[in-house]
Parts: sequence; C-alpha cells; structure tokens
Amino acid sequence: MLEAIQNRKSVFPQFMTDQAVGKETISALFEAANMAPNHKKTEPWRFRVYTGAGRAKLSQNIKEVYESARAPEVRNSNVVPKFDKKVHQAPVVVTVFLHRDPEKSIPEWEEIAAVACAVENLWISLDQYGLGGYWSSPGFLCGDYGQWPDAADNERCLGVFYFGHYEMPELPRQRGNWEDKVSWITE
Ligand SMILES: Cc1cc2nc3c(=O)[nH]c(=O)nc-3n(C[C@H](O)[C@H](O)[C@H](O)COP(=O)(O)O)c2cc1C
Repeated sequence: MLEAIQNRKSVFPQFMTDQAVGKETISALFEAANMAPNHKKTEPWRFRVYTGAGRAKLSQNIKEVYESARAPEVRNSNVVPKFDKKVHQAPVVVTVFLHRDPEKSIPEWEEIAAVACAVENLWISLDQYGLGGYWSSPGFLCGDYGQWPDAADNERCLGVFYFGHYEMPELPRQRGNWEDKVSWITE
C-alpha cells in the first residue's frame, strides 16, 4: 500500500498544536487537491481557507448558518461554542464546497464524488508535511445550494476540513476485512 494511504488518518482539532502552517505548504496541498479526477472536466471543488484571525469570520458564519437552519426552539446552545472552539484549535480550517456545473452536464453525485476525490488528495498529502486533519460534515452546515453566506446559487457546502500540526496518541484505525467487500468474478 502507498505510505500516504497507510498514514492518512483523522486527526481532530483538540490534538492540534498552535504551530502555524506556511502558505507555501497550504498552497501545495490545494495543488494536490486540484489534480483530482472529475467527469467532463467540471473541476467542481471550491475551498475557502481560514487561518489566524480569519477563523473568527468562519465562526461567525457557522453561527449564522446554524441559526438559519434551526428554529430557536430546537437550537442546542452548545453547538455554536463547540464549533468556535474547534475552529480556533485548528491552525487551518477549510470549508469545502461543491460548485455545481451550471450546465448540469453530469449528475450531481459525480460532482460530489469529484469533490471527495479532491479532499482525499489533500488528506493523503498532509502526512508528508507532518500535518493531520479531518473532514467534519455536520448536517446543518451541509445544506442547500446558496445557503452558505456569500455562496453562489450553484454552490453547496460539503463540510469543514480542519488541519494542522498535532500531538495525538496512536489510535486504532479499525477496518473490516477488504475481502468481505470485494467479489471476484473470474468466469
Ligand atoms: C465525507 C466524510 C464526512 C465525515 N464527517 C465526519 C463528521 O462529521 N464527524 C466525524 O467525527 N468524522 C467525520 N468523518 C471522518 C470519519 O469519522 C473518519 O474518516 C472515520 O472515522 C475513519 O477514521 P480515519 O479517517 O482515521 O481512518 C468524515 C469522513 C468523510 C469521508
């Protein structure tokens, strides 16, 4: 197995350190994301990158999205502070968007799949820089097209990707047997 795949894992913000991640490194990660496969060359991945004081803007956006997605009587008062904490624990926080092809030349699932390929490219690239991260997809954030503040009508948020340097104990990475998921047809 490729070492990058073997080493990829979810690293949660509470394990991240304050060590800054240089812009060159962040750029290299998005260059890798941008090489993802995609049907009809729609390149449907879009990212907004929040670092430093910019993270307060993201916290504010998350609050707005939560409050527009949940009526006051069903809101949980822990949600907004929980996200504010996570956003500030991670040195780099990225919102992941699907930018739907305006021509709708391919089905939506193919574009979501291409965005996921782009995120995976970024994710498997982290380890070579000593970074770790994870993809968070809370339901209220992954809503409709145009729901995110400043999102275009054809843009839909697919979650938040946190990354940074980290100190984390080795956690078990359990997987069922690959053999159970593969059928062989040989004749
Ligand atoms: C599309 C997607 C969405 C995810 N959303 C969440 C999430 O909302 N919360 C979470 O704790 N992990 C989330 N994860 C990460 C998984 O929990 C994690 O990949 C899984 O537990 C396997 O662990 P590993 O990444 O260390 O192999 C998501 C992963 C993917 C691919």
